[in-house]
Amino acid sequence: MSVELTIPHLEKLGKAGTDFLGVRYPLISGGMTWISDSSLVKAVHDCGGFGVLAAGNMPPELLAEEIDRCNAIGGSYAVNLITIAPNYAAHRKIVVEKDVPCVIFAGNFPKRQAVEEVKAAGSKTVSFASTISIAEQQIRFGVDALILEGSEAGGHIGHVSLTILLQQVLFHNPSVPVFVAGGIATGKMIAHLLLMGAAGCQMGTRFVMSEECLAHANFKERFVAARARDAVSTPAFDRVRLPVVAVRALHNKGMQEFGTLQMGLLQQLDDGSLTREEAQMKVEEYWMGALRNAVVAGDIDNGSLMAGQSVGLMDRVQPMAEIFEDLLTEAEQELSRVRELL
Ligand SMILES: Cc1cc2nc3c(=O)[nH]c(=O)nc-3n(C[C@H](O)[C@H](O)[C@H](O)COP(=O)(O)O)c2cc1C
Repeated sequence: MSVELTIPHLEKLGKAGTDFLGVRYPLISGGMTWISDSSLVKAVHDCGGFGVLAAGNMPPELLAEEIDRCNAIGGSYAVNLITIAPNYAAHRKIVVEKDVPCVIFAGNFPKRQAVEEVKAAGSKTVSFASTISIAEQQIRFGVDALILEGSEAGGHIGHVSLTILLQQVLFHNPSVPVFVAGGIATGKMIAHLLLMGAAGCQMGTRFVMSEECLAHANFKERFVAARARDAVSTPAFDRVRLPVVAVRALHNKGMQEFGTLQMGLLQQLDDGSLTREEAQMKVEEYWMGALRNAVVAGDIDNGSLMAGQSVGLMDRVQPMAEIFEDLLTEAEQELSRVRELL
């Protein structure tokens, strides 16, 4: 269903973002492993937003099929590649061979050669940046845009909140468009982030709460009931011996099990039965499996309920078109209000 609105202020402020993304509205549905498939890309695209296909660690042949489905939709979208996924090399080969409008590197920072290779194949490239030095490094590597994601976000997160990242990176006017993510779920917030200079906003949790999202009903029900403070981040028990990327998810038994897993891995590191890299790989395998368990199988006790703190800003599942209408109308109203104020 298409979303047609008269939003002159938003159109003006969001122009850099919409030009870059090649869509009508400067809203990105962030790639979410096991969740962001070609059907979610289509639902977002149909509403005028920018859909992202999450490669996660899916079998390479499935990724190829999913890319074909996204291309059949006939618009702009991105493939989200996780640089620390075991299938990353195979995934990269596929996006280079196929016709993919945009690639978003996640997980870790892509090497210069990866950025150059993907660009040479004709895709735009986007990287996450959590400090000004990383932003500068990624721009030197040639990325076409950045995403600042604050620690309020769901899934794998950095340690710094969006409020700080805006001041550290966005306010220094990097030479490429900067999209922002983490804790965004209202049109008012989108309006103010655009006023601050963001090219557009990426949301994850908000789009899990769409009717079109294929996540298990149990998963969505927990989102509906959750408060912001229920979305907690995991601790790292030993940042030196076992550096683990923090994950924000709704607290449950699965979250507690991650603590037990870390303790076990540290013991194996001590007795030399595992290397640090092997232990880190086991951590990532744990998250991929646990998320699948919750999203696909609906096991909301033992699986991982990755969610941002923005989960506390929503209380119902809505059709995608309604989500877009709510966000865009509220953003436009807020921009008109600010204009009056000035
Ligand atoms: C269930 C879930 C899975 C996610 N998986 C990924 C992923 O595979 N790759 C990625 O770059 N970001 C991932 N994210 C982050 C989202 O793309 C997005 O940046 C984030 O959700 C923004 O914060 P919000 O949830 O407050 O909107 C995930 C988020 C959630 C909630």
